[in-house]
Amino acid sequence: MKIETLKQIALDAGTIVKEGFYSSKEVAHKGTVDLVTEYDVKTEKFILEQLQSHFPEYVLIAEESHKGSYYYDKAIYIDPIDGTTNFIHGIPHLAISIGVWEHGVPTMGVVYNPILEELFWATRGEGAYRDGVRLHVSDQENLQTSLIATGFPYAKADAGVEFRWVVECITNILPHILDIRRIGAASLDLCYLAQGKVDGFYEIDLKPWDVAAGIVILLEAGGEISNVKGESFDFEDKSFVASNTKIHKALLKRLVEI
Ligand code: IPD
Ligand code: CA
Ligand code: CA
Repeated sequence: MKIETLKQIALDAGTIVKEGFYSSKEVAHKGTVDLVTEYDVKTEKFILEQLQSHFPEYVLIAEESHKGSYYYDKAIYIDPIDGTTNFIHGIPHLAISIGVWEHGVPTMGVVYNPILEELFWATRGEGAYRDGVRLHVSDQENLQTSLIATGFPYAKADAGVEFRWVVECITNILPHILDIRRIGAASLDLCYLAQGKVDGFYEIDLKPWDVAAGIVILLEAGGEISNVKGESFDFEDKSFVASNTKIHKALLKRLVEI
């Protein structure tokens, strides 16, 4: 597998997403607050066709069409538009996310924001990059001066356990950090962490296609990932915590187990 081919697929898919961003679109509801457009579906179809023809030996797991297991020896996880709510509302913070995993290990990732034309990528063991510039996490050591990104799960609309977790975590953490950012695309949250723009990130209910690419980019930039208990992260885990490594323990201490 070549990272250059993956990058080209993301760039080409970006033209579909960019066209959609500047057009009026049909919005449908997958859930009370979980939206989808014809561009999510169209972009996913394009990426699947490309990946299928270049990498037929991989199982393709894409947000709008996948059902079933997340675990295969050779898998590619695809989010055609991560940040659909931003996409629909004309906020230029969204990305195409393509992550390659082999035997449970993240090996390659590409995250592309076609509106700002920012391309992030990483290959295991070879570093993480944005448009050719090597990425490194921040060296922030103090939680009180750390900028922390998060996101809210669609299940918040049920006002149940997920909503309560979000509120409890914010209550615990907000007085002890610089500030919170809810930017709206988990794949980019991980790239911003890899770039040192934010120092930590946490969320619940993320799916493999939200994080599969961002994980390899962050790890290659020197970051750390776990579940909220501090154990190594598994796609079935409800919680996801990431950091520059230096604030990881302090961040975990302020979050609530679920
Ligand atoms: C969502 C975004 C958002 C996160 C949600 C995700 P989508 O993905 O990554 O930041 O908070 O949990 O589902 O639905 O825009 O692909
Ligand atoms: Ca997503
Ligand atoms: Ca999506």
